[in-house]
Amino acid sequence: MGHLEGRTALVTGASRGIGKEIARKLAEEGAAVLCVATNEGLLREVSGEIAAKGGKAAYAIADVSRAAEAEGVIEKAVKDWGRLDVLVNNAGITRDNLLMRMKDEEWDRVLEVNLKGAFLMCRAVARPMMKQRGGRIVNVSSVVGRIGNPGQANYSASKGGLIAMTKSIAKELGSRGITANAVCPGFIDTEMTQKMTEEQKKLLFGNIPLGRFGKPADVAAVVAFLAGPGADFITGQEIVVVGGLTM
Ligand SMILES: NC(=O)c1ccc[n+]([C@@H]2O[C@H](COP(=O)([O-])OP(=O)(O)OC[C@H]3O[C@@H](n4cnc5c(N)ncnc54)[C@H](O)[C@@H]3O)[C@@H](O)[C@H]2O)c1
Repeated sequence: MGHLEGRTALVTGASRGIGKEIARKLAEEGAAVLCVATNEGLLREVSGEIAAKGGKAAYAIADVSRAAEAEGVIEKAVKDWGRLDVLVNNAGITRDNLLMRMKDEEWDRVLEVNLKGAFLMCRAVARPMMKQRGGRIVNVSSVVGRIGNPGQANYSASKGGLIAMTKSIAKELGSRGITANAVCPGFIDTEMTQKMTEEQKKLLFGNIPLGRFGKPADVAAVVAFLAGPGADFITGQEIVVVGGLTM
């Protein structure tokens, strides 16, 4: 029996990459998982794959940067399953550009999805989690939110903001039995990082003591731990999953 047996979870950005692996892992550990993203075809595949392996999954389309849609998916999870134990805010985008060339729209959209989206989801889940006197919020930030990165002023601001927001939520909701933690992956092999040039990748590789890029499963394992009973006394933390890139 998995360590999340009987729990329910919602994962945003679950249609591919890290989010898909988190959804799979939580289901493998026994949780019923609502997979949320903007792409219906991919979401259907992910929840179908989970069900085919004997897991419990459903999916819902939502743009997390829109309040009504964020609230709608939280409501759906609570209505369908009676409670929502775990919220994983993983949806995220990049719109990289050098500072002097960065367009307002590039700044705004990244902040809207990565930071406001997570805020809207957290705000919507606060009431049901407070009512049930417990819950787990895991926000997928990035190491870039701690150390910065050229060409990513917007992205690093959104991810740094997400870490700070997570700590405020942890302080605000701790007395209600709700934990909030941030996971900060380094460079993980997904479609998002495939945009990097070979030169950029080579440079980075030399600085990773474990000598490889991360895999979505490396991140999913940490999220599953934070969602389970082993992490009962952990809140307000930034867990860095970078193969030693920063220490
Ligand atoms: N890949 C990396 O190296 C890396 C490193 C650090 C942090 N992260 C973070 O991990 C998370 C997942 O990254 P990934 O590499 O799997 O990215 P990805 O681009 O492969 O997947 C992103 C997911 O988010 C969803 N999404 C995008 N905008 C959305 C919106 N408005 N509403 C709902 N869903 C939306 C997409 O549909 C997709 O499912 C992101 O928050 C990213 O910033 C990734």
